[in-house]
Amino acid sequence: MNMILSWFSFFIHIVFLSNLCFCDDPTISTSLHVSYQTLSPLGVPERVIAVNGNFPGTVINVTTNNNVVVNVFNDLDEDLLITWPGVQMRRNAWEDGVLGTNCPIPPKWNWTYQFQAKDQIGSFFYFPSLNFQRASGGFGAFVINNRDIVPIPFAQPYQDIVLMIGDWYSRNHTALRKTLDGGKHLGIPDGVLINGKGPYQYNATLVPAGIQYTQIDVEPGKTYRVRVHNVGISTTLNFRIQNHNLLLVETEGRYTVQTNFTNFDIHAGQSYTFLVSTDQNASTDYYIVASARYVNATVWQKVTGVAVLHYKNSKGPVSGPLPSPPDDTFYKGLSMDQARSIRQNTSASGARPNPQGSYRYGQINITHTYVLKVMPPVTINGSIRAAINGISFRKPNIPFRLADQHKVKGTYKVDFPSKPTNRTPVIDSSVINATYKGFIEIVLQNNDTTIQNFHLDGYSFYIVGMDYGDWSENSRGSYNKWDAISRSTTQVYPGGWTAILVSLDNAGVWNLRSENLDRWYLGQETYLKVVNPEENGETEMKAPDNVLYCGPLHYLQK
Ligand SMILES: *[C@@H]1O[C@H](CO)[C@@H](O)[C@H](O)[C@H]1NC(C)=O
Ligand SMILES: *[C@@H]1O[C@H](CO)[C@@H](O)[C@H](O)[C@H]1NC(C)=O
Ligand SMILES: *[C@@H]1O[C@H](CO)[C@@H](O)[C@H](O)[C@H]1NC(C)=O
Ligand SMILES: *[C@@H]1O[C@H](CO)[C@@H](O)[C@H](O)[C@H]1NC(C)=O
Ligand SMILES: *[C@@H]1O[C@H](CO)[C@@H](O)[C@H](O)[C@H]1NC(C)=O
Ligand SMILES: *[C@@H]1O[C@H](CO)[C@@H](O)[C@H](O)[C@H]1NC(C)=O
Ligand SMILES: *[C@@H]1O[C@H](CO)[C@@H](O)[C@H](O)[C@H]1NC(C)=O
Ligand SMILES: *[C@@H]1O[C@H](CO)[C@@H](O)[C@H](O)[C@H]1NC(C)=O
Ligand SMILES: *[C@@H]1O[C@H](CO)[C@@H](O)[C@H](O)[C@H]1NC(C)=O
Ligand SMILES: *[C@@H]1O[C@H](CO)[C@@H](O)[C@H](O)[C@H]1NC(C)=O
Ligand SMILES: *[C@@H]1O[C@H](CO)[C@@H](O)[C@H](O)[C@H]1NC(C)=O
Ligand SMILES: *[C@@H]1O[C@H](CO)[C@@H](O)[C@H](O)[C@H]1NC(C)=O
Repeated sequence: MNMILSWFSFFIHIVFLSNLCFCDDPTISTSLHVSYQTLSPLGVPERVIAVNGNFPGTVINVTTNNNVVVNVFNDLDEDLLITWPGVQMRRNAWEDGVLGTNCPIPPKWNWTYQFQAKDQIGSFFYFPSLNFQRASGGFGAFVINNRDIVPIPFAQPYQDIVLMIGDWYSRNHTALRKTLDGGKHLGIPDGVLINGKGPYQYNATLVPAGIQYTQIDVEPGKTYRVRVHNVGISTTLNFRIQNHNLLLVETEGRYTVQTNFTNFDIHAGQSYTFLVSTDQNASTDYYIVASARYVNATVWQKVTGVAVLHYKNSKGPVSGPLPSPPDDTFYKGLSMDQARSIRQNTSASGARPNPQGSYRYGQINITHTYVLKVMPPVTINGSIRAAINGISFRKPNIPFRLADQHKVKGTYKVDFPSKPTNRTPVIDSSVINATYKGFIEIVLQNNDTTIQNFHLDGYSFYIVGMDYGDWSENSRGSYNKWDAISRSTTQVYPGGWTAILVSLDNAGVWNLRSENLDRWYLGQETYLKVVNPEENGETEMKAPDNVLYCGPLHYLQK
């Protein structure tokens, strides 16, 4: 019997190993129809990008280890790719949805993504990765729930609430692209949207009448799990709910040490989960606020997102001033202190039953260090570009591993400098030659004048240090080697640095990018090429059957 079983599993092994393993894990199938729709989030009609007719897009709600099949229909008039930041696509960069891993889905085509939400839990979101489209929408929440057999480190919340917050321009993504192509700044956003809607009229001078706002209906005496995502272009938003504590419990796939906050800074591209108890007396409704951070409050007054928390037993609408934002006039370290206070709960189970802290990252020797420095945008060959270590990334016209497989040479280089260079910035397709199974340190040094957020696909990394000033080897003395949070997006304060540690166990080519949409558009990105030199088909999946071809391989497309 045992013999038969092991032969049977051996058979399963060879059939499935080199491709997607559907094995015993359930499959969740869904379709996303991505199209334009005319809405008036700030009172003026404009074309936004909707998903299945919804703005923000449909929530994709799965459970750890589910196989996910998403058929994406491109009903726009330009190329499309959907990317899933934070979802690790283990061994399967073919589904990551950025230009270095996928050929774009042409207008009027559809393409089916297939991946497994392997060993992950938490609040994530998806968005269109090309052509600045996220500025017009196309984003939606991607929730990965725990399996029943792995407990969550808090009582089961009564219900989930998803909030997509972000800065918003009345100009659409094509117009914003033109502004950037013309070498100009985008200027101040026209507002902040909460779940695709403009502000509640909390002040008649600042908010015109007739704007639709988001109202969240709740019951008294319950605990809600509130999943908040900053899907905007670049503005850091301070999130708060009047009179209510935000109990931080999870960020980008890790349970945190549970801490109450009255307000929380959420940077562009970041996701957080809070527990909110409806423990107030409902004498009125309550404000939900997302206001811009580090800006001149006088000039940015109108750029404030305001929604309403409405108890079933509420005695009336909310009025009066908004709950106040943090005041760092006299201490600029306020926001960084808050960021540094986010720790992982080392004893909580993650997606698997074993404790999150069982991987002793602080005791592992670093194999390589990369110091990546960003500066304000510069002019290269007549156009304004943004660079990392003097390289402004040229968008690939063919995915890197597809080029490798088909022996298309010369489409990219593997010589990304591991230290800042003093040379004049150039436009190039150069990726980092990262070593499979290496344990690397990446220091992100922000010499730009605004906050920069960085995201790495395919991985979760430990944020071990963050400070103002220039990083030096001595900075390692301050690293958190015990309970640093592990996530996939981090902010880097202007004039400061953030150090992250990454265990390179996921083979593929993975996008490392500025999550500030404008800087990313201007070339502030690269990729980590992580391949097993003894590749035998086990560390990296082969291209899926439906792989799209483009650029020099366009002739292979049926
Ligand atoms: C975007 O706005 C421009 C005008 O600024 C307009 O010409 C264009 O058609 C708009 N694009 C879409 C997709 O609506
Ligand atoms: C496009 O959608 C159809 C179903 O409408 C599906 O059968 C087909 O496989 C999809 N094509 C791709 C490339 O995913
Ligand atoms: C950490 O997780 C454990 C195990 O689930 C839980 O009992 C504890 O309350 C959590 N501690 C904090 C501070 O979040
Ligand atoms: C996801 O589905 C679960 C039930 O499986 C439900 O409890 C939860 O509210 C859903 N979450 C969202 C965000 O829709
Ligand atoms: C509304 O905002 C304006 C501009 O900031 C301010 O002068 C005024 O006092 C506010 N009105 C109320 C009722 O708070
Ligand atoms: C957080 O605040 C809530 C009240 O809103 C309280 O019930 C809870 O005990 C607090 N939790 C922690 C860990 O401070
Ligand atoms: C309800 O709570 C508010 C704020 O905490 C307080 O000012 C008010 O007096 C309370 N009202 C009642 C009826 O308890
Ligand atoms: C904010 O902007 C206003 C209007 O342009 C200006 O008068 C004020 O000095 C600015 N405040 C600060 C702190 O820069
Ligand atoms: C790390 O490096 C030190 C000194 O270079 C060495 O003694 C130690 O064994 C290494 N630790 C591991 C886990 O490889
Ligand atoms: C500028 O463009 C020319 C011609 O396309 C090219 O040869 C040169 O390398 C470019 N310079 C930079 C700094 O990218
Ligand atoms: C990348 O690094 C490996 C060693 O880790 C080396 O063998 C290989 O030649 C390098 N590739 C390139 C293109 O530099
Ligand atoms: C950028 O670097 C220069 C030289 O190292 C330094 O003088 C300047 O203060 C830095 N600026 C920021 C914003 O980090």
